[in-house]
Amino acid sequence: MNVLFVTSEAYPLVKTGGLGDVAGALPVALRARGIDARILLPAYPDAMSRARLSGRSIALGNPLGVGEARLLEGEMPDSGCPLWLLDCQPMYERTGNPYMIYPGCDWPDNFRRFGLLSKVAAMMGASGGLVDWRPDVLHCHDWQTGFVPAYLRAWGAARPPVMFTIHNLHYMGLFGTEILDMIGLPHWMRGIDGLEHHGLVSGLKAGIQYAQAITTVSPTYAAEIRTPEGGMGLDGLLRLRGPAVSGILNGIDPDIWNPLEDPNLAAPIDPADPGPGKYANKMALKRQMGLDLSDDRPLFGLVSRMVEQKGIDLILGAIPRMVEGGAFLAILGSGDRHFEYELNRAAARHPGHVAIHVGYDEHLSHLIQGAADFVLVPSRFEPCGLTQLYALRYGAIPVVRRTGGLADSVVPLDHPDGGTGIVFEHPFTDALEWAVGQAIALYHDKPALEAVRRRGMARDFTWNRSAMEYIRLYESLIARAP
Ligand code: ADP
Ligand code: GLC
Repeated sequence: MNVLFVTSEAYPLVKTGGLGDVAGALPVALRARGIDARILLPAYPDAMSRARLSGRSIALGNPLGVGEARLLEGEMPDSGCPLWLLDCQPMYERTGNPYMIYPGCDWPDNFRRFGLLSKVAAMMGASGGLVDWRPDVLHCHDWQTGFVPAYLRAWGAARPPVMFTIHNLHYMGLFGTEILDMIGLPHWMRGIDGLEHHGLVSGLKAGIQYAQAITTVSPTYAAEIRTPEGGMGLDGLLRLRGPAVSGILNGIDPDIWNPLEDPNLAAPIDPADPGPGKYANKMALKRQMGLDLSDDRPLFGLVSRMVEQKGIDLILGAIPRMVEGGAFLAILGSGDRHFEYELNRAAARHPGHVAIHVGYDEHLSHLIQGAADFVLVPSRFEPCGLTQLYALRYGAIPVVRRTGGLADSVVPLDHPDGGTGIVFEHPFTDALEWAVGQAIALYHDKPALEAVRRRGMARDFTWNRSAMEYIRLYESLIARAP
């Protein structure tokens, strides 16, 4: 079975968040199970320099009227997963974040950049002969690829079926309706039964409307987005799509996130005896980030995009009580300037107790997971969340809000079979303060701490189960396609 992953990021070529991790790891897990999964990604400069390109290229002409395009054939650097980079110099030859000119400001021509990606993916599916390989399923991810099934529908192509995975309903890819002409989609798609969302058109809605199957990245989020509270205005359509919508929990790449062999760690962490490894990493991180070395006190970590979704404001509110309670906090992240500024101020107010690194740093993200006693994920909503999964594997106990994939992956401490993390309900600072208080109390009860940590490290969050769920869905899509 041939499956083409159409995506705007894939680790290690380009990553801004969890989508990059998933689009890098899931195709590899599928390949290990006999599926010929391949990746189609824009040829951003970083992707060009990191991919192993074969030198073979396929000219596509000028499919969207925005410049000459071609497919560059290659492989992912570590996994060897086959790959095409879609090269179109005026669209993708831009450095930095793949979506934004600078933080908070999207490229104004994103509809062309990702319209082109979508159109080429649809062409690869609909017409044989473009490359010497044809997908049985197009697996599209987030709004940037939502136009793929719209093109196929516009062309009357019933095959290949499209699976559209929503990693985050919040990013809708909204544009004025005039873009339909510019990217070559028909006028009849303009209405509410098509792509229209509150007077605009949405790439995300296109995917939900026209894909044969819609998945999201946890069962709880799949239920939440069908309610008015969680559906961001698309709940009605998602309910209408009925059984076409399902939730499959993300997995993690056990080679990249392996606490026994992670070159980013100061010492390996052995699930059979995590104490010594955790201690060595904690000391190394505290030294690196300038935290106080003296006491036996709990270290909390935060690795996050700094946006509203992630509950950064709750953390800002809870910091004074955390410090009073004797906790240390190591923060890594970037995003909204306001949150970066306020967290920097908190670090300046509590030197030695709160430390922050603003920026994107893959190495430090691993070290914080290895070092922290607890990792904070107080999200307002969380489709899946990967940081709590990495935390569990690295012996850091997650402190999470009960929402989306956090609810599906962290077992609360009062569970009869024993918990793996601390779970709170409400998106308020005092609820987070309560959770942090629980964590600090647990930290001082060493046998209990050790038991929770070991239970978490023993959980299997690799792709074993979820990859099989995707395969079953691909099979049913192919069987049902006309
Ligand atoms: P989201 O995709 O919403 O950002 P996830 O928890 O699914 O949330 O995935 C976040 C991914 O991005 C994780 O791999 C995490 O380690 C990584 N990450 C987030 N912020 C940073 C950062 N500043 N530096 C390095 N990695 C980061
Ligand atoms: C999104 C979500 C996150 C999820 C990731 C990968 O960015 O915010 O919860 O883990 O995609 O699916």
